Amino acid sequence: MARTDPYTVAIDVGSSKVGVLIGQTDQAGQLEVVGKGLAANRGTRRGHVVNVEATVEALKKASEEAEVMAGVEISRAYVGLAGTDARCVNSRGMVSVTRRDQEITQQDIGRALEAARAAALPTDREILHGIPQEFIVDEQGGIADPLGMVGSRLEVAVHLVTCNVTRSKTLLTCVNRAGIEVLEMVFEPLATAEAILMHDERELGSLLVDIGSGTTEFAYFCDGEVQHSAVLPIGSGHFTNDLAMVLRTPFAEAEQIKTRHGCCLPGMLGEERGISVPTVAGGPPRVVPKRELCEILQPRAEEILTFVHADLSRNGVAGELRGGVVLTGGGAQLDGLLELSEQVFDTSVRYGLPQGLGGLVDVISSPIWSTASGLLLYGKASEADRAKKAKRRSSSMRSMVGSLRDMFSDLL
Ligand SMILES: Nc1ncnc2c1ncn2[C@@H]1O[C@H](COP(=O)(O)OP(=O)(O)OP(=O)(O)O)[C@@H](O)[C@H]1O
Ligand SMILES: [Mg+2]
Repeated sequence: MARTDPYTVAIDVGSSKVGVLIGQTDQAGQLEVVGKGLAANRGTRRGHVVNVEATVEALKKASEEAEVMAGVEISRAYVGLAGTDARCVNSRGMVSVTRRDQEITQQDIGRALEAARAAALPTDREILHGIPQEFIVDEQGGIADPLGMVGSRLEVAVHLVTCNVTRSKTLLTCVNRAGIEVLEMVFEPLATAEAILMHDERELGSLLVDIGSGTTEFAYFCDGEVQHSAVLPIGSGHFTNDLAMVLRTPFAEAEQIKTRHGCCLPGMLGEERGISVPTVAGGPPRVVPKRELCEILQPRAEEILTFVHADLSRNGVAGELRGGVVLTGGGAQLDGLLELSEQVFDTSVRYGLPQGLGGLVDVISSPIWSTASGLLLYGKASEADRAKKAKRRSSSMRSMVGSLRDMFSDLL
């Protein structure tokens, strides 16, 4: 098989599945999906690896499927990380510019970023990302690149994503044991946003909510950059559990009932129809009205959405959703969730499917592929940023932030 270097590989180790995508950049610079692999994963719970063997097996199975489809061998990949231990904080770093001319240099920027990092890092954690949000020169904020400006005080506001060192190492070990080198671990909501949020949404103020099987990951973007992000340890698997417990039906049946007939908003139920529900003991199936299913699903849906809303309120951004809310992840497909979200967030809500990729787009046209697609785009942008590192100053805000990200990662 050919070598993978011209290819970008993304791996999403989700709580229900491992998804692998192989992308190839065409001559026009467009990233095309050329391989896709999917395997059920029983080794990961709530974003954390709980069974190394099972996770490695799923990784091998999914990557082999993608390799066969693309006709290339995977050796290196961008890997998503979204354990519930991930913590995101906004930190600030401040330095004084003592030189006579007071012109801000690359060195001053580096010192400010280092101060932001030192201010917020607890000892048992490592920094996964440090994303500069804005620079402030002598109290004048909103500056994307302070290089060459004149001032006596330079501040930087940074969004830091930290994770537990041992947990990220376990994931790294699993990927390595599947024969793949990790190029970069990427906090999943940040990667997902690359494939889901439009440029205007990122500028105006939008919330991305990825409802997976074991977690709900969310990130608020404004002025082009992430301002707040978090992982909630509740996902769509909890709807399945709730149905299985209350209806006393096997999990596999509960899963089918949820995906085929589930609805979490009573106002959306049509004519009252009964669903045949098998019982665990193998007795005769029971007929359960759809309204009863809704009564089981609605409180859980409200719990997830109100938790996210309360977290945004605590962080002062609940009223700032001018660009609306975008729902993605497999669990977002539950009927009524979009309408319920409109009520909870009091703004417009849309579904997000992966965008910005070419090639086999039909095979990834599902919200379960949002994270892997975003990882591909993130990986490609990261490679491009590295290539451009020599010329840091760019007219575009996004690539400027990219190069600042690189500079920050040099400090880590
Ligand atoms: N039509 C549907 N209605 C409701 N839920 C659905 C539907 N289709 C899939 N799901 C749910 O989506 C979940 C899988 O979504 P996804 O692949 O995004 O999760 P994951 O990435 O594996 O998990 P996580 O992100 O939490 O680690 C499963 O719990 C599944 O039951
Ligand atoms: Mg996921």
